[in-house]
Amino acid sequence: MKIESLLIHGGIDGDENTGAVNVPIYQTSTYKQPRLGENKGYEYSRTGNPTRAALEKLVADLEEGYAGFAFASGMAAITAVISLFKSGDKVVISNNIYGGSFRVLSKVFNNFGIGYSIVNTTDLEEVRSSIDETVKAIFIESPTNPLMDITDIKAVAEIAREKGVYTIVDNTFMTPYLQKPITLGADIVIHSATKYIGGHSDTVSGVAVVKNKELAERLHFIQNATGGVLPPFDSFLLIRGIKTLAVRMDRHNSNAKLVAEYLRNRDEIEKVYYPGFEDHPGYEVQKRQAKGFGGMIAFVLKEGYDYKKFLESLKLVTFGESLGGVESLICHPASMTHASIPYELRQKVGIVDNLIRLSVGLESAEDLIEDIENALKESK
Ligand SMILES: Cc1ncc(COP(=O)(O)O)c(C=O)c1O
Repeated sequence: MKIESLLIHGGIDGDENTGAVNVPIYQTSTYKQPRLGENKGYEYSRTGNPTRAALEKLVADLEEGYAGFAFASGMAAITAVISLFKSGDKVVISNNIYGGSFRVLSKVFNNFGIGYSIVNTTDLEEVRSSIDETVKAIFIESPTNPLMDITDIKAVAEIAREKGVYTIVDNTFMTPYLQKPITLGADIVIHSATKYIGGHSDTVSGVAVVKNKELAERLHFIQNATGGVLPPFDSFLLIRGIKTLAVRMDRHNSNAKLVAEYLRNRDEIEKVYYPGFEDHPGYEVQKRQAKGFGGMIAFVLKEGYDYKKFLESLKLVTFGESLGGVESLICHPASMTHASIPYELRQKVGIVDNLIRLSVGLESAEDLIEDIENALKESK
């Protein structure tokens, strides 16, 4: 089945008992057991819930993995995945990943003896030389949040396999419609489903998909033991959002291209980070490993232009955290999404104060450009 059909009919399609075309919301915490030691597949909703199970099967189908797991947020999914490791283990991370992923490693897991090292994962030699015997996984985002660096997932996964470590890919920016890391050799895929998977800025949620049975058993154990599960209603919202993922991503792709090209030609702007530009260093890799360039853009205002005035002058584009919704969302990474990364490190990787991150929504591109143009004029 092609992915456009799988988005609508993958996982568990509808309800066999009643013929309802949508999976019902099983709003229950527990299940009646007919006899001691017997149940109908479910015993307690932290362990399993039919609405969540339908979503988990669907995301596993979409990512072409062995099993999926749904969590109360993207960070809960990341926390569960990092919990696969133990004291003394180390995770190699891309150098400008989402601030919260950096924070949970540097401020939470560090306290339990799980270390990390920051690597430019676009440089394969750097990746190779960063792996010593303590490293157990390479955790990448491609494109990275917010600077849109592209890592060659297949090449990194080959190095990881050679060295006997896992490849974990945060696929939030791309979604399985545009990129399927497991088919490129990754072991685990993570999403902040709050973003494109849900697509409507109405749920905070996360998913993880694993490649094989061994990882599935271990992650299910952690999901049940630690308990950060996605409730039934939010599971329903994700199933509903996923049905339109293909049409949404197509429009995000085409709108972002138009907005990126517009921004590139403006005098107020120093630099635009967008992997769909032919001169982006990751352009060829992105073309090879993904079906599009996505809806995310980052750009730097030139000196002399005030980012606060710019952000506050926008009328159609929503100034706020998050991304991947039907509405365009804009934020200031240095003080918002990436504030937990130390100042020196932010400067080093390019998360400067004049950097703006834009999630291009599904509005008319013409309206978006007009709104941005007015705000740019106000930013002087
Ligand atoms: C790439 C990426 N991964 C993970 C997360 C964390 O997800 P959540 O906010 O759903 O916990 C985010 C949130 O912005 C993100 O952008």
